[in-house]
Amino acid sequence: MGWSTRECDVLVIGAGGAGLRAAVEASSQGAKVTVLSKSLLGKAHTVMAEGGMAASMGHVDDRDNWRVHFSDTMRGGQYLNNWRMAELHAREAPDRVRELEAWGALFDRTKDGRILQRNFGGHKYPRLAHVGDRTGLEMIRTLQDHGIHQGIDFLMETTVVRLLKDGDRVAGAFAYDRERGRFHLVHANAVVLATGGIGRAYKVTSNSWEYTGDGHALALEAGAELVDMEFIQFHPTGMVWPPSVRGILVTEGVRGEGGILTNSEGTRFMFDDIPPLYHGQTCDDPEEGWQYVIGDKEARRPPELLTRDHVARKIVKEVKAGRGSPHGGAFLDIAWIRKKIKDSEGHIKKKLPSMYHQFKELAGVDITKEPMEVGPTTHYVMGGIKVDADSQMSRVPGLFACGECGGGLHGANRLGGNSLSDLLVFGRIAGSAAAQWSSDHGGTHIDEQQVTDVEAFALAPLERQQGENPYAIQHELQDVMQDLVGIARQEDELSQALDRIGELRTRAETAHSPGNREYNPGWHTALDLRHLLTISESITRSALGRRESRGAHSRVDHPEKSDSLGEVNTVTRLDDQGAVVAEHVPVVGRTDELQSIVKEMG
Ligand code: FUM
Repeated sequence: MGWSTRECDVLVIGAGGAGLRAAVEASSQGAKVTVLSKSLLGKAHTVMAEGGMAASMGHVDDRDNWRVHFSDTMRGGQYLNNWRMAELHAREAPDRVRELEAWGALFDRTKDGRILQRNFGGHKYPRLAHVGDRTGLEMIRTLQDHGIHQGIDFLMETTVVRLLKDGDRVAGAFAYDRERGRFHLVHANAVVLATGGIGRAYKVTSNSWEYTGDGHALALEAGAELVDMEFIQFHPTGMVWPPSVRGILVTEGVRGEGGILTNSEGTRFMFDDIPPLYHGQTCDDPEEGWQYVIGDKEARRPPELLTRDHVARKIVKEVKAGRGSPHGGAFLDIAWIRKKIKDSEGHIKKKLPSMYHQFKELAGVDITKEPMEVGPTTHYVMGGIKVDADSQMSRVPGLFACGECGGGLHGANRLGGNSLSDLLVFGRIAGSAAAQWSSDHGGTHIDEQQVTDVEAFALAPLERQQGENPYAIQHELQDVMQDLVGIARQEDELSQALDRIGELRTRAETAHSPGNREYNPGWHTALDLRHLLTISESITRSALGRRESRGAHSRVDHPEKSDSLGEVNTVTRLDDQGAVVAEHVPVVGRTDELQSIVKEMG
């Protein structure tokens, strides 16, 4: 029993792009920084943002600028975004990319030696700075190198059980290391949550085991609010076959490089149901080859690059109509570019090296010669911890959040590539504000009772003599979320999901993990379950309350958009009894200037 204690100014929980960028910033301002990472350093979902980071540098099309990027982000998010966050993001992204380059990131180049940018869904111009299809990996590598040389203290394979408080304000965290099960108390003046997403609440996901909504749930328990949790992004292209790799991401970069989607009849189905916004803008000039496109004449894009929510729904529709691929997806074909490009094999291997290897090794498919089978996979949560745009602080004093676990920037649907820029822009802001907070508000105290309570809570699954296997409960939860709170939702199924989550919560409270504290993944799962159940309830309650279809939230019983709900975000919090409650609040950050930009951009 007992725990070791560490002291720091700023504790960053999570070592993906946002956490590392926050740590680098706080450290550069003189704060003593500790980073806790649930996994090994370098293994973060950031690496799954393969196709690039969005920043309006205008290297490929010089008409691009922050105003167009802002406007695309708002349109993608269906205007539920925090307007101020979308403004900051679009304005600052180019500087953050250049800074990353100065720290050693090696981007692909244009012929005249500038950072190359590629097309992605919902972006008007080629905007994604990239490193082949390994952009997230390059970003993590660069930030890690930079951070390590700044003397940041890292605790790897360490999971936080609960945030600790001093009165209303946050004062640190209680954690255990996964290897030996030792407890660690980290005492800090400020805490930055950068724990990523919630994908493991679903059965089919691009997220690996770490993504159990920890930051979201820890923040709720500490008194913060979550915003827009109904908006879950189902990336249209995950692997569907073989079963062991179902859900693994197939980067949107494949479509950005010309990949087309077809059904079992060979039809390019994305030409059906082009959204009204683009009516009258399609072009079927055969000279343009794959660029049978939507968008204005000067900035044409193929319909495969419509926003992710739309493309995912279209694939599901084809499958339901019996026109799916053999394993329940659609075909994604990049090999066809041999009709246009001489050395198409070399070109594909150069532009999409990871995809080439992924399909060759995992599915026995050579993507330079044959199509891939793909289908939607749970990839990202637009919702997250409600924060102030300019500081990233939640309503709990001293508790900050950034990256995927922070909410607001993306509204009802995130544009691909906006995640990596989000991590850099808001990671920097959070790190800076946390360091400032720490220097202005030092001296917190953590009473021992709080720590012994959480220690007892953490040990309970090991100490029970009997109880259910936590894996069984997690699998059932994943089925419930996949089947009842998935891409197409309806009232009775959502209500059923809430009941099921309630039952699973009761069962999880008495789950039992045999064995001891060393190398015991069953114990870790028992502790993760609490977070998974809390965020699943938050997602489901939010989805129940939004009786309309908008962005990534699609209600078959309310297929239209509602005018009144177009002006509100959903907020969830815990009430005095610890139950999740949801309500609607007006969208924030809208100014006349920003509205006029949106109007101007059409
Ligand atoms: O498809 C992708 O490469 C993912 C990018 C993203 O989620 O931003």
